[in-house]
Amino acid sequence: MRELLSIACEELKATVLDPMRVRNLFNKQRRKAYYSWLKVRRRIGATWAESREGDTFQQRVYRSYEDYLMHQKDKVKRLDLNDYDVKFRTALRERLENMDVDWPSKNVLCLAARIGTEVKAFLDVGAFAVGLDLNPGEENKYVVFGDFHNIQFPDNSVDVVYTNSLDHVFELGKVLGEVQRVLRSEGCFIVEPAWGREEGPEPQYWESYSWAHIDDLVSHIEKHSFALRQKTSIAVPHASVQLCFTCAASS
Ligand SMILES: C[S@@+](CC[C@H](N)C(=O)[O-])C[C@H]1O[C@@H](n2cnc3c(N)ncnc32)[C@H](O)[C@@H]1O
Repeated sequence: MRELLSIACEELKATVLDPMRVRNLFNKQRRKAYYSWLKVRRRIGATWAESREGDTFQQRVYRSYEDYLMHQKDKVKRLDLNDYDVKFRTALRERLENMDVDWPSKNVLCLAARIGTEVKAFLDVGAFAVGLDLNPGEENKYVVFGDFHNIQFPDNSVDVVYTNSLDHVFELGKVLGEVQRVLRSEGCFIVEPAWGREEGPEPQYWESYSWAHIDDLVSHIEKHSFALRQKTSIAVPHASVQLCFTCAASS
C-alpha cells in the first residue's frame, strides 16, 4: 500500500511538471507499456538494506535473484538512447585517446553495456571490443547476452574490463571476483562509477546497489587485489570520475 501511495505521489508530481504526459493515457501502446512498468515497479518495491560488503554499501532488497534479473532487464525498452549514444560515445572516445594505452593491441570487455555505446568508443580507438548485458536488445552487433556475476569468457583472457554499471550489481564481491578471473595479470579494470549516495543524488528506481562515497568503492575494489593507478574527473554522461585499476600483484 505504501509503495502504491509513493508511486501515486511521484506520478502526480511528474504530471504537474509535465502536464502533456496525460496524453499517454489516450495512446493504447503507451498505456500498455505504462501498465507493464507499473506491474514490475510494484513487485520490485523500494526497500534497501545494508549489503554483505559492510555498512557503507546498500543494496535493493529483491524477493529473489529472478526478480533482480527481471528488474534490470526491463530498463532498455523504456528509454530513448539516441542522444546518449552519440554524446557518451564521443566523450569516452576522447578519454580513451588521452590515455597512454596502445588500444589496437588490446581486447576489451564492457560489462553491462546495454546497446553498446562504450563498445563503439573502444572500437573507434582501434581495440577489439565486445559488450555483455542482461538485455542487449535484438540484433545487437556490439553486445552479447550475459550476467556479470557469471561471465562466460575464460580465465586470463581479457586485457581491459570496462564498466559504468557497478550500481546495478546484485552482489559486488561476485562481480569483482569475475573481473579478476577474466583479466590477464597485466590487465586493466576501468570503472566509471555513480557518485556515492552521500556525495551525489540518491539511487533511483533502476539502481540496485550503492556506496556512501566513491572512495568507499575504491577501497573495496582494492580489497579484491586491485590497485588504483589513475583517477580522472569526467563530465559525460554525468559528472564523475574514471578509475583505472590494475591487478595489485602486477605493479
Ligand atoms: C545504467 S545502464 C548502463 C548501460 C551502459 N553501460 C551505458 O552506459 O549505456 C545499466 C545496465 O546494466 C545492465 N545490467 C544490470 N544487471 C546486469 C547483470 N547482472 N549482468 C549484465 N548486465 C546487467 C542493464 O541491463 C543495463 O543495460
